Amino acid sequence: MASIMKTPTAMIALTILALLAVVQALVPRGSSCCFHLNANGGPGGAVGQLSDGQNRIGQGLSAAQYCIDPNGGLTDGDGRGCILTPPTTQFQCDVGASPTLGFAVGCDGKLSSSGSTTFISCPTGDNGGYNIYTVAPKGQDICVNVTLTADSCRTGCPASPPQPKCPKDLSGDWQFPHLITLVDSTKPNNAEGNSWNGTITKEVSSLFNFDIPQRYENKTCSALLLFPKQDQLETSAYEFYGIGGVDIALLSNTATFSTTYNTMGPVKSDFGVTNIAPGNSYTVATFPCQANSVMTFMMKSAGSCFNYFQDYNPSPYVKTLLGTLSAVPLYTRPSTDFVGSSIGLYLTACSSP
Ligand SMILES: *[C@@H]1O[C@H](CO)[C@@H](O)[C@H](O)[C@H]1NC(C)=O
Ligand SMILES: *[C@@H]1O[C@H](CO)[C@@H](O)[C@H](O)[C@H]1NC(C)=O
Ligand SMILES: *[C@@H]1O[C@H](CO)[C@@H](O)[C@H](O)[C@H]1NC(C)=O
Repeated sequence: MASIMKTPTAMIALTILALLAVVQALVPRGSSCCFHLNANGGPGGAVGQLSDGQNRIGQGLSAAQYCIDPNGGLTDGDGRGCILTPPTTQFQCDVGASPTLGFAVGCDGKLSSSGSTTFISCPTGDNGGYNIYTVAPKGQDICVNVTLTADSCRTGCPASPPQPKCPKDLSGDWQFPHLITLVDSTKPNNAEGNSWNGTITKEVSSLFNFDIPQRYENKTCSALLLFPKQDQLETSAYEFYGIGGVDIALLSNTATFSTTYNTMGPVKSDFGVTNIAPGNSYTVATFPCQANSVMTFMMKSAGSCFNYFQDYNPSPYVKTLLGTLSAVPLYTRPSTDFVGSSIGLYLTACSSP
């Protein structure tokens, strides 16, 4: 009895099935996505495969194809499931294996396994080839960390938002302190009142109040420490000695003329030590401007002593600014034009990108 297999229709059907099988082996199924891998670190270069499915770097192997399925499983170009072979975690693709899940191609193309983009490559001694692991094999101290980057299937990372430009000078919108007062740890209950100088010694720290105008709402502010060379200053002067710099912090409370060392309250955020040298300006910190509020900064010694007359910019702004600041009588200065560069602590509103 003639087998059904011998009828021409069945033969055609079988041929089509066979063709489909071939096509399926070449093209990823479902919504999987295929790529080649390139290693960075170690020997670098394309990730290829030995015929038995071990994934290798180096050894002159051509780039192998991997396809990732929606569950984070990888299959190689021969349809073999890729696994992290226990117990060594060697990355290889075996006939009939169900893929180890948890792989992903990052927005930048970096392959990760269980969230880590670090793979370990170890020399095999076989024609310059390196095996790939996720956990460094014990006793092999010649292994190196590598990252593996896919040449497709990346989604593209979102562009980081443009950073505001914070100039290290007073070219934009800026504020000078409307109150400077000193606190002295050796006279902790003394209120030192208004000061024209920033004074920093081992015992004395200076508090600076900045009034943040309403127009700074939603802007980024930076605390700027200007420290020109003496010969760049015309009306101001300073004494500066000692090594270590100054430590600038934002206080939780607002200072007043009656603030003392004992009442100044806690530090809200310490911006750390700025190691200052004449002829420089320093962006001490950038932070969201707290519009319509007063921010109090403390400058204390981190080794250096500093005493300076806090002059402000000689630009034509000064008269206008002084006019607008008539509500701050303590800073009604002589109406002569100030010449010379600025020194001391300022607050600038960074311009939008
Ligand atoms: C290798 O990567 C691991 C995990 O990311 C890290 O802890 C280790 O410091 C790295 N080693 C070297 C030598 O970079
Ligand atoms: C600041 O941002 C808030 C919230 O996005 C908005 O309602 C407000 O109008 C903004 N103010 C200015 C001056 O841009
Ligand atoms: C303020 O600083 C200037 C410059 O260093 C100095 O000449 C002056 O004596 C200081 N004034 C006070 C009260 O410390």
